[in-house]
Amino acid sequence: MVEFRLPQNSRVTEGTTHKAPKGAKRIKRFRIYRWDPENEGNPRVDTYEVDLDKCGPMVLDALLKIKDETDSTLTLRRSCREGICGSCAMNIDGTNTLACTKSIDDIKDDAKIYPLPHMPVVKDLVPDLTHFYAQYQSVEPWLQADTKPAGGRERLQSPEDREKLDGLYECILCACCSTSCPSYWWNGDKYLGPAALLHAYRWIIDSRDENTGKRLDNLEDPFRLYRCHTIMNCAKTCPKGLNPAKAIAEIKKLIAERAV
Ligand code: SF4
Ligand code: SF4
Ligand code: FES
Repeated sequence: MVEFRLPQNSRVTEGTTHKAPKGAKRIKRFRIYRWDPENEGNPRVDTYEVDLDKCGPMVLDALLKIKDETDSTLTLRRSCREGICGSCAMNIDGTNTLACTKSIDDIKDDAKIYPLPHMPVVKDLVPDLTHFYAQYQSVEPWLQADTKPAGGRERLQSPEDREKLDGLYECILCACCSTSCPSYWWNGDKYLGPAALLHAYRWIIDSRDENTGKRLDNLEDPFRLYRCHTIMNCAKTCPKGLNPAKAIAEIKKLIAERAV
């Protein structure tokens, strides 16, 4: 379980409780982190009682119901509502996951909802992912080849080589893994983190890419790659069931092999 850590010197205070409408029978309490950059006070936790008989089954359904019907100031990101875009990633009940695929029924007691841990907060449940995306960009996540494709059209790949991309291409860049990684918490300025490294590996083992050596050079660094200490939080938390730790281990193996 990935615990949410409060920013240093910051104390979360108890906020407002919004009661469920009269007559509601199946009430669930959502305790939600609130912070507004225009109000320089400490963050607070507001409590919203939701009538589950009038709400969809997922945590995102409850958050949107709260925003639509109770408190329009609640701020969160979402787009696809089906686990594809990665934008609704947040810390729910102590675990980083996607609000749109997390069932309310899986949460015992009150639902505690925080932004992804150890990231600057833009507002409420929205983390600032600027640095995370810059790190992703730094692994140059696109095909690089100087030679022309055979026949001048498509770059063909055998089914076996294509299979090597399974478990990698499915990443939706939600940042659940990187923000659950203790090494990334403490050294996120220099350590690339599991998401960017999974994408680095995705291009390293793509049979159509011709820059494998340069890609490995770019990663051979005590911080960028080797800050991973195989703690495995990343694989435990990934809502798509991917294993960034394995991809990182494979990169380390390739670097070790080429040194022999
Ligand atoms: S590896 Fe999983 S947790 Fe990490 S960014 Fe990709 S989909 Fe999200
Ligand atoms: S295995 Fe590596 S990347 Fe994954 S959580 Fe542990 S230290 Fe972080
Ligand atoms: S809204 Fe797109 S993954 Fe949740």
